[in-house]
Amino acid sequence: MAISNPTESFAHRTLLRFEGILNRIFGNDLNPFYCLGALGLFFFWVVTVSGVYIYAFYKTGMDVSYSSVEYYTHEQWYLGGIMRSLHRYASGALVVVMVLHLLREFILGRYRGARWFTWFTGVPLIWLIFAAGINGYWMVWDTLAQYTTIASMEWFDWLPIFPEPMSGYFVSREGFNDRFFSLVSFTHVTIPLVILFFIWVHILRLSYPVVNPKRRLALGMLLALLILSLLKPALSQGPADLGIEPSRLGIDWFYLFIYPLLDVWSPGPVWALVIGFSLLLCVLPWIPSRHKQIPVAEVNLEACSGCRLCVADCPYEAVVMKPRTDGMNFLEEAVVVADRCVSCGICVGACPSSTPYRSKTGYVSGIEMPSLPISGFRTTMVKELARLQGNARVIVFGCDHAANLDNLRGDGVAVLSLPCTAMLPSSFIEYALRESQVEGVFITGCRENDCYYRMGGQWVEQRLAAKREPRLRRRTERDRIEQFWASSADSKELAVELEKFRTSLREFNQR
Ligand code: HEM
Ligand code: SF4
Ligand code: SF4
Repeated sequence: MAISNPTESFAHRTLLRFEGILNRIFGNDLNPFYCLGALGLFFFWVVTVSGVYIYAFYKTGMDVSYSSVEYYTHEQWYLGGIMRSLHRYASGALVVVMVLHLLREFILGRYRGARWFTWFTGVPLIWLIFAAGINGYWMVWDTLAQYTTIASMEWFDWLPIFPEPMSGYFVSREGFNDRFFSLVSFTHVTIPLVILFFIWVHILRLSYPVVNPKRRLALGMLLALLILSLLKPALSQGPADLGIEPSRLGIDWFYLFIYPLLDVWSPGPVWALVIGFSLLLCVLPWIPSRHKQIPVAEVNLEACSGCRLCVADCPYEAVVMKPRTDGMNFLEEAVVVADRCVSCGICVGACPSSTPYRSKTGYVSGIEMPSLPISGFRTTMVKELARLQGNARVIVFGCDHAANLDNLRGDGVAVLSLPCTAMLPSSFIEYALRESQVEGVFITGCRENDCYYRMGGQWVEQRLAAKREPRLRRRTERDRIEQFWASSADSKELAVELEKFRTSLREFNQR
């Protein structure tokens, strides 16, 4: 089972409004909010490359770590210093985009049903990224490192896992040796490898995951980090001295916010907070909600020719091909992996047997949404079209997750909302234009680059442009088809565009 409409919460409306502003500034193509996961990965690569460079000059040891960092920061400021700053600022940016990414997926409700897996595998990434960042601060071995190391050990000592208190090793030089630095540099190199593994798992159930931001956006971000690195280079605080308790520390609030909390609270409540928050994130996908669950896609073998188009278009790797089981003269058949299916219906729009024209099997598609089978879709469309009157008659196809179509319905306007606009088979557009009295087809759905089901908008555009199967036939009159992508915050603009389209149809008719 999967999810229907996310309700429009205040947070959702605010997010849409804010993203609308970003769209006006950057354009939909470069809106950073539309590729926060990919930006996270980009910052991860910047951290890795800059980290590899400075690691070449880093020396492990109580007496040399600090001075080696000072060397590349000051003596080699033009490269080592810049790399250090890039390393630090890209790490901060990684936390920012990760938190925004998490919040955005939460607000959009994209963590329930089959999406649990991607959400759930994101949670360890939070821990790993903070562990790597805090660990990085220790490597510098300045007063901040001294403070955070001792505070961390005291925090861990609260858990009954170590036979003797770890913080005891850090009170004097005698109890403390260079093995600490070997361990810290080992973990600082190993954790990013584990992060990479978890990112791979995180996107395992997504087809065509967007792992790279658009080049112009990436270059802009890199430039911003470089400018920041030049204006405010990352520096160490004074050298650590185990004999003196560090005071007046500058805290990196992106990574080290937990330490001021540890100063105020005892370790127990802080553990309760971080473990409680992590557990809450983990169980969130299963917390009951008022979101309606809609059934997942189902294959009808009698109408499936094993063409694989549904596999190519499913954004969630939820259709697989298996050897034929019904003796029909095809090699393979489609099988829906139910616990991966988000009920978007995109596969229905991809299936060549999803057509409003009667076939051997009647009005049955190879793959169907039980909540809206092709026969029911056809009947509703025919009914909607039959009531149209006047001139410039138009049918609007839209999506349940974007602008509401109800207000557009009128004597001359029929509307049909689908779980995703990409559920619309191209043959339905041809049917509407050729077999009915409709003069135009207006297609809408989530804002460009912001499809609720990731790929829907792109697939629709490519099918209409005859670049993707099932293509809209070349002979279809393209100037009777209009697209306008609009979220629920863009209803007014949508109504205006529809009216413009109808005006152009009237002018077309008068020619
Ligand atoms: C820095 C760490 C992270 C990176 C690099 C990352 C990266 C990505 C990428 C590349 C995608 C695919 C985007 C697309 O193609 O649509 C994605 C999707 C997703 N991420 Fe993350 N992510 C991170 C952390 C998290 C966290 C902490 C959570 C939440 C706990 C999370 C939740 C999700 C969800 C729910 C999706 C799927 C959205 C959908 O179903 O359409 N991610 N992430
Ligand atoms: S494309 Fe079909 S199989 Fe894939 S997630 Fe959507 S409804 Fe499920
Ligand atoms: S697109 Fe339709 S016909 Fe092709 S494999 Fe999928 S279900 Fe079968």
